[in-house]
Amino acid sequence: MTGDIDRVLVGTAEIQAAVRRLGQEITRDYQGREPYLVGILKGAVVFLSDLARAIELPLSLDFMAISSYGTSRQSSGIVKINSDLGQNIQGMDVIIVEDIVDTGLTLAYLKDILHVREPRSLATCTLLNKPSRRKLEVHLDYVGLEIPNEFVVGYGLDYGERYRNLPDICVLKEHVYAHA
Ligand code: IMP
Ligand code: MG
Repeated sequence: MTGDIDRVLVGTAEIQAAVRRLGQEITRDYQGREPYLVGILKGAVVFLSDLARAIELPLSLDFMAISSYGTSRQSSGIVKINSDLGQNIQGMDVIIVEDIVDTGLTLAYLKDILHVREPRSLATCTLLNKPSRRKLEVHLDYVGLEIPNEFVVGYGLDYGERYRNLPDICVLKEHVYAHA
């Protein structure tokens, strides 16, 4: 697997610093409230598990599994819910937790779906942001790191379901895609 990696784009120290800062921002902004973190499977699993521990508030969390039609490197924004939340979010302070916002199509769609369920508030938190690729303007309340227009893997992010377990956020060598 290490032979597939071209270079580390964001190392573990920088990731952990960003996660700590996001945890502090959320802790400050949600004083007196109890956020409900909604992690989007599977990419956000690693990020959410670190983020939740960086928030010093009572909270609960759940996951939504979605699949978006498109190629493995490009989402279409047409999203299908494969597994929904386990509870009603009406009146709750919901924070959607994503690994990365690229075109914005997936997050915009998710926000629409959850908004109609009438949470008290609905915020978005993404570890990575690729603003250069945006197709749909979507408001991001919490952003860990802005990255250039590169396809990245690791720390939960996959290419063809692999590389999620890499501790760093990495760029793959071209030959990996050539065999896809
Ligand atoms: P969007 O709908 O284009 O914003 O894409 C969001 C989803 O596409 C993310 O939740 C990821 O699953 C996937 N994605 C976008 N960019 C990358 C990347 O660089 N690496 C891995 N997955 C990505
Ligand atoms: Mg993915």
